[in-house]
Amino acid sequence: MADRITGASETPEDTLADAALRPSGFSEYIGQEKVKANMKVYIEAAKMRGESLDHVLLYGPPGLGKTTLSVIIAREMGKNIKITSGPAIERTGDMAAILNDLSDGDILFIDEIHRLNRAIEEVLYPAMEDYAIDIMIGKGPGAKSIRLSLPKFTLIGATTRAGLLTAPLRDRFGVIHRLEPYTVSELNRIVNRSARVFGAPITDGGADEIARRSRGTPRIANRLLKRVRDFAQVRYGGVITEEAAIMSLNQLEVDKHGLDALDRRLITMIIEKFGGGPVGLDTLAISVGEEPDTIEDVYEPYLIQLGFIGRTPRGRIASASAYEHFGYTAPLWGIGAQ
Ligand code: ADE
Repeated sequence: MADRITGASETPEDTLADAALRPSGFSEYIGQEKVKANMKVYIEAAKMRGESLDHVLLYGPPGLGKTTLSVIIAREMGKNIKITSGPAIERTGDMAAILNDLSDGDILFIDEIHRLNRAIEEVLYPAMEDYAIDIMIGKGPGAKSIRLSLPKFTLIGATTRAGLLTAPLRDRFGVIHRLEPYTVSELNRIVNRSARVFGAPITDGGADEIARRSRGTPRIANRLLKRVRDFAQVRYGGVITEEAAIMSLNQLEVDKHGLDALDRRLITMIIEKFGGGPVGLDTLAISVGEEPDTIEDVYEPYLIQLGFIGRTPRGRIASASAYEHFGYTAPLWGIGAQ
């Protein structure tokens, strides 16, 4: 998949920018009020008892701040955090080494935890439950399993696909939170804060325009802000005004709902080539030259959230509001009726 300015997956440029923009405590972290309120209680209680925090599972769409939140949790616990990801851990021995290296109370953050392979996941079961790992010594009939104890760590698992987690793994998390897309007003505050960090002057209208086109996602908001700042610097005397934001976002082909050329192609394909649908995911994927998984995980969630695409048992359909937004007349016989 091509890198999209409106894509929620993390790019190397985001990683650098995120470090500068990352809020350092709950007081600076905007949004996700329910998660913050609950986590603050669990952290305070664990600290009062002098225990490690229970294992935490954070799930939800990419770009909503799962890593950021975990770094804050570690900081508020006054402990270190080790950050890794499911695909990065290739052998059970790697997992055992990572666990063994932690200290009491430390946080181990595993991003994309649904992508851990099964054997490695099984190392985690006793590690999470009993702070221990079982190691096999020898082979064949004489093989013996010995149990090594581990520090009392906290696992924070993050996933965009909670449904793909196995039940035994999911059941070992004491705390499970879903992160929600941000509101425009929360994104507006994030854009204002990031502009302040960059030292870039911004008007209310400018921040609002960026917020409205960010698909509920801080990572996208910060990425759009950086590009708009460039246009503002070169063409608008350095101030990110509403006019500067509108002009640059149009130039970037991000429309007023945050849709880009790829989203538009997907929807116009359903309307023009498939009469509004229903069209099966695989057929649609071939038509636009993308993987079905990419369409399902990356494009569709936001288009469904906007109400532009519907999922039916017979396939995807374009909604009446999609027809209207893209300047088509909805068929008289009704969408999906043919
Ligand atoms: N930058 C990215 N996400 C943020 C958030 N939730 N609060 C403040 N700044 C952020």
